[in-house]
Amino acid sequence: MLFMVLMCRIMFNKGDVMSGIFTADEKHIVAAAEVIKNGGLVAFPTETVYGLGADAYNAHAVAAIFEAKGRPTFNPLISHIAHPEELQNYAVADSRALFLAEKFWPGPLTFVLPRKDTNPALDLVCAGLKTMTIRCPNHPVALALIEKSGVPIAAPSANRSQTLSPTTAAAVYDSLGERVDMILDGGACMVGVESTILDLTTPQAVLLRAGGITKEELELALNETVLISDGNPDKPTSPGQLLKHYAPSKKLRINATEPLDDELFIGFGAGYPSAQMNLSKSGDLREAAAHLFQYLREADKQTEFPRIAMAPIPLQGLGLAINDRIRRAAR
Ligand code: TXA
Ligand code: MG
Repeated sequence: MLFMVLMCRIMFNKGDVMSGIFTADEKHIVAAAEVIKNGGLVAFPTETVYGLGADAYNAHAVAAIFEAKGRPTFNPLISHIAHPEELQNYAVADSRALFLAEKFWPGPLTFVLPRKDTNPALDLVCAGLKTMTIRCPNHPVALALIEKSGVPIAAPSANRSQTLSPTTAAAVYDSLGERVDMILDGGACMVGVESTILDLTTPQAVLLRAGGITKEELELALNETVLISDGNPDKPTSPGQLLKHYAPSKKLRINATEPLDDELFIGFGAGYPSAQMNLSKSGDLREAAAHLFQYLREADKQTEFPRIAMAPIPLQGLGLAINDRIRRAAR
């Protein structure tokens, strides 16, 4: 009997490396911050749902988030910050944003704002857009992890694509398993639904996703009407509904095997030694994802060639999300 109890303890011990779940104490938060700094993935609790986090400035790590989730598209991710006043380092915050941040942060409210930090390392987390999606979560573990990592943490909900957002560490493990380097267990999430997403890039605020802070609370605070993305206040909005997609201003031709005279060529893999750019010479899809938006932007700015052509990208793993994006960009 004693043996059985001991075995159970070993197998289900939360601190056990086997499970990938670690009690969110000081020691493990410090270790998790090291994982983030080294480009790894950490699932961590917030007051809404568990997030799957990576250094927002590390495009390789951000690409690994999409890979782990099996997300077939590169949507912009929420960058989580530990101090509300840091908002202005990353985004252009108008008086509405500053007022709402003061009132509701830390908390379940996310802003879409004009991006201020033009560092190309942030291109993937922003999905190539000129906006940045930011929130300051209200959870001591999340705040300590961001603080110790020293960078904003990019994090979607910590579940496989098309499945429910997890509100416990065990649910994260059930969904993502060993795809995450470390899962910090901070107990069940208090709010249990995702954050409210508010687009403040327009003169009138637009609710992109209903969540932890209600439309009424926002309207009361702003003293003005908040629009709903589909214009119907009774119909729940789906996230990403009003998502704008990055598109270069130059014409982009995809699945090209060689460039025409007026095309700048972006290769993938070893077969294109004369290409001006290569998403990944070794054919690594994660590297390609990390370079995608940055290279498209650079190609768009380049003055020598009026058009862009891109080599075929395999339709597997992260290649699905890459193809989704370049197909939209090529329209
Ligand atoms: O509570 C939350 O918000 C959690 C925790 C971890 O912070 N995060 C979360 O992230 O739910 P995620 O990626 O699972 O959902 C965010 C949604 C995505 O569907 C994304 O497409 C959408 O918000 N989104 C992000 N930026 C956007 C933007 N600029 N415009 C439209 N939709 C956007
Ligand atoms: Mg999600």
